[in-house]
Amino acid sequence: MTSASSELHRLLRCRYPVLLAPMAGIGGGRLARAVSDAGGFGFVGGGYGDEPWLHEELQRLDGVPFGVGFITWALKERPHLLAQVVDAGAAAILLSFGDIRPFAGAVHAAGRILVAQVQTLSQAREAEAEGAHIIVAQGGEGGGHSGVRGTLALVPAVVDAVKVPVVAAGGIADGRGLAAALALGAQGVLCGTAFYAAEESLAHPHAKQLLTQASGDTTTKGELFDVARGLNWPSGPWGLRTLQNTLTQQWQGASSALLRAHAEELQATIAQARQTADHRLAPVIAGEAADLVRKVEPAALIVKQMVETARRSIERLAPVHRAAPDR
Ligand SMILES: Cc1cc2nc3c(=O)[nH]c(=O)nc-3n(C[C@H](O)[C@H](O)[C@H](O)COP(=O)(O)O)c2cc1C
Repeated sequence: MTSASSELHRLLRCRYPVLLAPMAGIGGGRLARAVSDAGGFGFVGGGYGDEPWLHEELQRLDGVPFGVGFITWALKERPHLLAQVVDAGAAAILLSFGDIRPFAGAVHAAGRILVAQVQTLSQAREAEAEGAHIIVAQGGEGGGHSGVRGTLALVPAVVDAVKVPVVAAGGIADGRGLAAALALGAQGVLCGTAFYAAEESLAHPHAKQLLTQASGDTTTKGELFDVARGLNWPSGPWGLRTLQNTLTQQWQGASSALLRAHAEELQATIAQARQTADHRLAPVIAGEAADLVRKVEPAALIVKQMVETARRSIERLAPVHRAAPDR
């Protein structure tokens, strides 16, 4: 694959159309830097707005193009963080899960790129109307929070519905996925699970190891870990995808009301499990692309392999391209 020469490339100034997804607590400055240095574009996971964490991680990015992703409803509780990351030099702000309207003006006024991660076609149209420069169409296969639509059908529908560049997310963790996303009309991909086990990721080494042995067959989605982490997600069509473990099996099928009734007990369990890296109870947040993550390796290598495999995948399509039309 030659360097990207799309609108996405023009906006983000990245060589390759491979974007590191913002991953709260997992994607810090080192990981974002490694992806940007390798020719992709790294988003730091600003997540729920942990200010001291963000401050420290952003210091690792001096001189490198980078973005910061926020969970929109959480940013509403700490809106001053937006100005802080702009001052720290973020070239792009990615907003997910919530109404982007309160922040779109400030991102524009600061002259930064506004990226909206959406889960439905109607959200994509709204984001374009609010002036998003790039729209990430996120399918429910992805790790972390996502909606219910699948990437394969959502991406081309969003491409048809908006004029701004579209990036595909959810279930893409190698060059075959990148090639497929480009074929669907996306200009690039945004990947989380692919980089969870990267050397530079802040995931616990044991969690990385578990991911390299896991399968997309055994992920699960729900609100168990949001309740257990004491996160007050507003009601919406969102669930958190993680690997299955003992805790998810124990609470499988539990209603929201039942989980909330046991919130205190769950929070104590998770706090203890996180301290001891007991991932039978603590979550490993990853998506269906788990099958494609087999090694702990440097992020630069992940980007390089993704681009090379995409190039080969596209070359393999040549016979279709050359095939004579029906007579
Ligand atoms: C560990 C992890 C944490 C995540 N945290 C966030 C987050 O803080 N904000 C956000 O917008 N998306 C978050 N996501 C979702 C990603 O932005 C992205 O949509 C997703 O990773 C794409 O699917 P994939 O995991 O199959 O690559 C997270 C994903 C993972 C795997």
